[in-house]
Amino acid sequence: MKERIAIIGCGLIGDSWAALMTAFGHDVTAWDPSPRMTADFETRVDKARKQVWQVMPGARPATGNLTLAATLEEALANVTWVQENAPEQLGLKQELYAQIETYVSDRVIVASSTSSLTWSELSIGMRHPHRLITAHPFNPPHLMRLVEIYAAQDDMRARSVAFYAGLDRRPVVLHRDAVGHIANRLASALWREAVNIVAEDIADVSAVDAALVHGPGLRWSVMGAHMAYHLGGGEGGMAAYLKHLGPSQERRWQTLGSPKLTPEVCEKLIDGVAVEAAGRSIASLALERDDALIRALRAKTQ
Ligand SMILES: NC(=O)c1ccc[n+]([C@@H]2O[C@H](COP(=O)([O-])OP(=O)(O)OC[C@H]3O[C@@H](n4cnc5c(N)ncnc54)[C@H](O)[C@@H]3O)[C@@H](O)[C@H]2O)c1
Repeated sequence: MKERIAIIGCGLIGDSWAALMTAFGHDVTAWDPSPRMTADFETRVDKARKQVWQVMPGARPATGNLTLAATLEEALANVTWVQENAPEQLGLKQELYAQIETYVSDRVIVASSTSSLTWSELSIGMRHPHRLITAHPFNPPHLMRLVEIYAAQDDMRARSVAFYAGLDRRPVVLHRDAVGHIANRLASALWREAVNIVAEDIADVSAVDAALVHGPGLRWSVMGAHMAYHLGGGEGGMAAYLKHLGPSQERRWQTLGSPKLTPEVCEKLIDGVAVEAAGRSIASLALERDDALIRALRAKTQ
């Protein structure tokens, strides 16, 4: 079903959602309080939409309309879906939902892109809390297929899964809301140890990143951690793996660190990525990432 979508907050994530949603034929009205962000919003969205087309399965639908609204009220007129991408501040988002609820009808879903705030916190004070869902994308949402969904009601959950699946995303549903959903909890657990390895001088930043990209990262792009260890048990699968190598996993867990982001550790990380970037700007690294993601996504669908 074609939705009329309001993109609220046109930063990194708002841009990307707008590109994806218009590429799939939905009409989008966007609003951001900062003139700096709206100045070249359409150019940024056009650029990202071209990347969506490079990985789009099947025939390309007619592009949806993209309109910039001057006010929040204007952005919300007659919409059926709201994707909120405002800064990650609880009070700001709660205040925004109070305003949004005065302008939209009861059937409208308000989906938050929040990385780490929970539905339980965000829905406090809402007139219709069940219309709120968290729909967390992985950056950049117009290329990365994961969307983690928490909805407090079955019908909202079903509607949300269908909506994001219709954008060629891969929705994953949480049974209960959790800080960082699934993927950011996993990413944080992994990065904690990556920082620890640098802080403890076991290896430098670029070695840690290379180990990840050429080792587990490559395998995880085709198979999750549980399934990878299922194969690690040979014919006996996970049961054999746990019997054989479970104790070795537990031994490693006991040595994992809990680093603190002290000024010294921060300096090591900042210097380390500077060495790894070898003079490449953030813009050129982002382009490199996007080109590689596009190639990987195209290879996976062949
Ligand atoms: N950056 C990421 O990697 C990432 C990934 C997934 C989810 N998210 C989530 O997406 C949301 C947006 O993050 P981002 O990285 O796009 O941030 P950003 O800073 O790039 O964009 C936020 C935008 O919100 C606007 N804004 C400020 N006050 C506002 C208000 N009251 N109402 C509406 N908009 C307002 C700002 O002008 C800015 O353009 C956050 O909740 C974040 O947790 C971020």
